[in-house]
This record gives sequence, structure tokens and C-alpha cells, in this order.
Amino acid sequence: MTSTIPAPGDSVPFSIFVSQPSTEAYEVRFSPLAQPREAEMDSTFLDAMKVRHSVFIIEQKVPLESELDEDDTRSVHWVAHMSDGEDNTSLMSQQAVGTIRVVPYPQPPHPTPGGAYSIIDGAVILKGRWVRKAEEGQADSRDPVAPPSYKTPQSQLEYLQATEADHEAEHLAAVGPDRATSMHDGKEPYVKLGRIAVLSSFRGFRLGQYLVQTALDWIQENPTYFDKIDPMAVAATASTKFNGLVCLHAQVQALGFYEKLGFEVDEGMGTWWEEGIPHVGMFRRLDLSKKV
Ligand SMILES: CC(C)(COP(=O)(O)OP(=O)(O)OC[C@H]1O[C@@H](n2cnc3c(N)ncnc32)[C@H](O)[C@@H]1OP(=O)(O)O)[C@@H](O)C(=O)NCCC(=O)NCCS
Repeated sequence: MTSTIPAPGDSVPFSIFVSQPSTEAYEVRFSPLAQPREAEMDSTFLDAMKVRHSVFIIEQKVPLESELDEDDTRSVHWVAHMSDGEDNTSLMSQQAVGTIRVVPYPQPPHPTPGGAYSIIDGAVILKGRWVRKAEEGQADSRDPVAPPSYKTPQSQLEYLQATEADHEAEHLAAVGPDRATSMHDGKEPYVKLGRIAVLSSFRGFRLGQYLVQTALDWIQENPTYFDKIDPMAVAATASTKFNGLVCLHAQVQALGFYEKLGFEVDEGMGTWWEEGIPHVGMFRRLDLSKKV
């Protein structure tokens, strides 16, 4: 499904929406600029992948194969464009400059605090754990039960390969109920904003804010949309109806950006690393009784 949503007021950006794009033809070994089966793909989703490639693969050095994941095909995505400056209301500009996605419930368990994750064959896999380094003079003061926070300096961290016990704990978390954190009871269904990216030369023009607001407004207007995507899974896992809870996994460097949009850090979720980048969990609750 594809539709055009005009940007609010007389602002320059506009966005294109695509729901649950097929990723079957997408080959992760290739850049989105050189996809062998490009003609078979949704062009809006391919535009999203081009922005993500530029920002996450080129700029942030995330591995090429890690960009597409299992959530892409069950999510809704927006791609922001800017007009060419000749005519601010023109929808003719073809350059995609930003993107965002909303991942529906049910969600996988919250990441393990201190965990170091990579995407392998589309799935998020625990590769290791960050722990506090042993203090000098102490044999081993590492405490995996109290992993470091994002405020712990890198020099005080030590990386340990994931053990069989770590994988077993991840497996148990995946099959059981989620753990409760500071802002989530472990049961309530929530949606997750993600893959938010604006091309570097277009930053600082409120495009990021526009994309997040576009997604939040859409969620508010379509609160039952995701009930229909996978009703069996939703019925099996959700103990309550969706009540406007929105989560995101924020790169620590972008935390201030999300705070300005009303999200709060969930201290109980801890800090973990995705493709080597430290992340924290943040939540905001939308009041679904209000109209946008
Ligand atoms: C984060 C990102 C999407 C922000 O996009 P943007 O279009 O430059 O942001 P905006 O212009 O909408 O900024 C809105 C406000 O947030 C602030 N802001 C933007 N990035 C920020 C950051 N990294 N940290 C703190 N504040 C930030 C802006 O200064 C602005 O503040 P103001 O309202 O007081 O003027 C963009 O920098 C980006 O793509 N970064 C690389 C990818 C990334 O890190 N994505 C997030 C992954 S979790």
C-alpha cells in the first residue's frame, strides 16, 4: 500500500508511506543502489534502503548485510522528500532524504543489558556482553548482573564472547514473558519506531522531527492497524489492547533528539550495543482519546 501524506502547513518536506513491503527480492550482499532485482521491488522501500545505506552503512559503518532485518517486511515505513526549491509544493522531487519505520507488536523481548548484538541473516543475534573491567588489584570484579550503563566510559568496559549460558538465557527470554522494565510491564503491546535517518546534508532542518511526528500522528489515527497484520500472534501474546505505548531503541548520541520529542529513557532497560553502537530504550505514551 502506498499513499502520499502532505507535510504539515506550508513546510517543504513531504513523505511517502509504504506498509509491509515485500523484501523477498532484496539481496543483502548488494547495495540498494545496485540491486539485481530492483524492478521487482517497491520503489518507496528501495528509497528507504538508499537513505539507510548512506546513513547507517556508509556513515556509521554498520555491515552491509546487517541493514535489512526480519522486521522490515512487517513494518510500515515513510520516506521523506524535499521539493527542489523551485516549487515548495512540488511532489516531483525524486531525492529521498529521510526515513523512519514503525514495527508492530508483538515485539521480541527487551535486549539483555550489556548485550552486544549483530544482525545475521536478518535476525538479531547476541554475540557477546560488555561488562565492567576488573579493578586493579582485584582478581575479578566483573558483575554481569550489574552491566555498565551508557554513562560508563569505554575505557572501563571489557568485552566477553557470549557463552552457551548467555545463549540459553536469551532463548528462555524469547519463549517466556518479557521482563518488566521501568516503563513497560513486560506484557502490554507496544509499537517501536526505528531506522530513523536523515541524509547528513539535510540535517538540522527539522526533517527528523517531521518524520517522528508523521509516524506518531499516524499511530494515533490508526491505533488498531496492527491488530490486523498478524491477529493470531497478537491474540496469543498480548494481554491487553494497544494503548498508545511507543518504544524506540535510541543510539545514545541521538538520545537528546528523542527527548525533545517527548520520549523518556527507560533506565530499567539498561544499555546494550547493536553493531557496536550503544543503545538505550525510550518510551512515550500517546493519548489515543485525542484527535490529531
Ligand atoms: C538523529 C537525526 C535523525 C536527526 O535529524 P535532523 O533532521 O537533523 O533533526 P531535527 O532538525 O529534526 O532536530 C530537531 C531537534 O533535535 C535536536 N537534535 C538533532 N539531533 C540531535 C542529537 N543527535 N542529539 C541531541 N539533539 C539533537 C536539534 O538540535 C533540534 O533541536 P531544537 O528543536 O532545539 O532546535 C539525524 O541526525 C540522523 O539521521 N542521524 C544519523 C542516524 C541516527 O543517528 N539515527 C538515529 C538512530 S537511533
